[in-house]
Amino acid sequence: MADFLTLSEIVKQARGNLDQGDWDYLVGGSDTESALRRNRAGVDAWVFKPRILRDVSDVKASTTLLGHPLRIPVVMPPIGSIQVFAQAGGAAVARAVQTFGVLQILSSVCDPDFESLAAEVPGPRIYQLYLTGDEAWMDNIIERAIAAGYSGFCLTADTQTYSRRERDIMKRYIPMSGRRAGSGDFIAQARMTWDTVAHIKEKFAIPLIIKGVACKEDARQCVEMGVDVVYVSNHGGRQLDHTRACIDVLPEVVDAVGGRVPVLVDGGFMRGADVVKALCLGADAVGMGRLEALAVAAGGEQTLVTALEILEHEIKTTMALAGAGTLEDLTPDLVTREQPLHPASVLSAFPLIDEGY
Ligand SMILES: Cc1cc2nc3c(=O)[nH]c(=O)nc-3n(C[C@H](O)[C@H](O)[C@H](O)COP(=O)(O)O)c2cc1C
Repeated sequence: MADFLTLSEIVKQARGNLDQGDWDYLVGGSDTESALRRNRAGVDAWVFKPRILRDVSDVKASTTLLGHPLRIPVVMPPIGSIQVFAQAGGAAVARAVQTFGVLQILSSVCDPDFESLAAEVPGPRIYQLYLTGDEAWMDNIIERAIAAGYSGFCLTADTQTYSRRERDIMKRYIPMSGRRAGSGDFIAQARMTWDTVAHIKEKFAIPLIIKGVACKEDARQCVEMGVDVVYVSNHGGRQLDHTRACIDVLPEVVDAVGGRVPVLVDGGFMRGADVVKALCLGADAVGMGRLEALAVAAGGEQTLVTALEILEHEIKTTMALAGAGTLEDLTPDLVTREQPLHPASVLSAFPLIDEGY
């Protein structure tokens, strides 16, 4: 097992371990990939206005989400076909997050399936569902998820149809989620509406997360309908192309939600400093999808634990240097927007890799 001391080393190892098809499936986006790059450009554009001479001798970065402790304000988002990146699939992530102390949102399109995983590695865990059947089918899955011990249910709303991911198409690479789209299964996903949300809220007590919120209007509607967590996401730039950077959507959503429910965000967050920027802008926790997959691709469960440890170090170091000893100290006045230094790419958070390190 390699002795990783930086996230850059982990990402470099993942690149070495993955063949071109799997690499492109992981790092790619849809169409022109501008939403993908914009996510990263947005994160790069926010810079710190640090405060000095504050006691940061004991930085605290732990929090809770839906009553579950998070050692750092980070969640592992759903990654379809995660078994492509780690032999143990979702189980590798499940064990790593339990060892470290954050939450996993399990994708409905990966191995092992949600019930096998729950038996193998009991939760807490959140289950993310793509609808591939009618309302009775969905109800049955939710009942089974509750019975299997899932403590939250996540509906991904930015995938009402499967996007065109040209890296995959041009190589004839078809991931598990894409296969389902090709078989016509996505019609149920396309029929999903706010009535689906109302139905779930009316029938089930399990906390509901709506993932894929991209504007204040939808955020407000989520809260009005009793949704328990608003999750700002553009699917890592893999669904609708030409969207705003998720970090730039965050302030208006945080304002619309007004502290009534937690706000999650993902899209382009790869480093501890990135997480701290999102927290300054009002996120309660940050999803890091590609980092999760890159870490398990680099070395499975143990490397994801190492990645989370390095991330914790980065988060606490950034907080201390910005003059914030607690998460409450992370406020919007600690950040401002500047012109990014270089064109964004999915790996521009790791510039040393390009320099041959
Ligand atoms: C390989 C891959 C597979 C994904 N599969 C799913 C999925 O099954 N369900 C889902 O809601 N989101 C899925 N996503 C989106 C992630 O949950 C998350 O929103 C995204 O990765 C965040 O952007 P980031 O990778 O820049 O952190 C996937 C993302 C990637 C990279």
